Amino acid sequence: MKLASGILYTERQISQRVGEMAGQIARDYAGKTLVLCAVLKGSIPFLADLMRLLPGDVRLALIEMKSQVDGKHAKILFTSSLDLAGQHVLVVEDIVDTGITLDYLLKHLEVERAPASIRVAAFLDKPSARKLDVPVHYRGFSVPDKFVVGYGLDWQERYRNLPYITWVEPE
Ligand code: IMP
Repeated sequence: MKLASGILYTERQISQRVGEMAGQIARDYAGKTLVLCAVLKGSIPFLADLMRLLPGDVRLALIEMKSQVDGKHAKILFTSSLDLAGQHVLVVEDIVDTGITLDYLLKHLEVERAPASIRVAAFLDKPSARKLDVPVHYRGFSVPDKFVVGYGLDWQERYRNLPYITWVEPE
């Protein structure tokens, strides 16, 4: 696979859209303590941009997941220490593809961590690949059925550092 020559979303488009998302989230959670639960590693740039635009009491939890262990399941590899019980939790995801990772995480959080509420902010959404019906309350962009990279998203751990969104394609 090689990096495509085109750009799907520029740095400027990304920052404008993240600003809009932050405005909506800030309005919805005004006066409440909000715990951002970021899914490592792909959500790091989105998390960093989003959290700095959110006013008030914003806390952070980190979780690392392995997607699709056997094509059907996801697995939790790491969770940072923070009590989510009774908290308003916003899951921060880089991309929702099949929905398997998010479905697993939401069920885990609901059952094991007893938060007051859970919503999802996904920077990208690839609806054409969806296998499970998962809620996405705040969505940055819907992307076509390509393997997208940049702004935290990788292909085999590469390209996370690109400040824009592009895609990889066969050589
Ligand atoms: P899902 O379980 O299929 O929804 O996959 C979610 C995870 O797979 C995301 O958090 C990403 O880490 C990864 N992923 C899915 N599609 C892409 C893509 O197009 N580019 C980069 N990573 C992706």
